[in-house]
Amino acid sequence: MKQIDLTTKITVYSYDECTEVEKSLIDAAKEATSNAYAPYSKFHVGAALLLENGKIITGNNQENAAYPSGLCAERTAVFYANAQYPDQKIEALAVAAFYNEKFTDDLISPCGSCRQVLLEVESRYNSPVKIMLYKNGEVYVAESMSSLMPLSFTKDALE
Ligand code: THU
Repeated sequence: MKQIDLTTKITVYSYDECTEVEKSLIDAAKEATSNAYAPYSKFHVGAALLLENGKIITGNNQENAAYPSGLCAERTAVFYANAQYPDQKIEALAVAAFYNEKFTDDLISPCGSCRQVLLEVESRYNSPVKIMLYKNGEVYVAESMSSLMPLSFTKDALE
């Protein structure tokens, strides 16, 4: 028998400790919550991506009466970015959520499907995506999605 311990590094910053670019990304994610279509959950999520050229792309959750047909904010943003700017590496992602008339006090972390899509982004551009999760005044930062997904399934398995 052997045991393998896996560790993940998360750094917590106050919003004020972030760089100007990081603040812009977080602000964009917060702002994007206002265009979410979430009549069922009332949980408004905003995602903002920083492209290599400095452009910020945002997305938000788009729900549907047939629940599984909706899409999370993160994938809405990633698929739009990849559709419009396929040659632009995605360098960072910020996520924020607005619920019960305020930005959440709890951390909002991407769901499993969004994590898998972000993992594909990292392998597609061969570059980490910095993950920035906003919760009221604080930002939890992971250096990559793969650091949040040990033992993940990637294209390596198909080679
Ligand atoms: N949601 C996101 O958009 N991103 C997340 O990271 C977590 C969940 C959405 C899906 C659904 O519209 C609502 O939040 C409640 O689950």
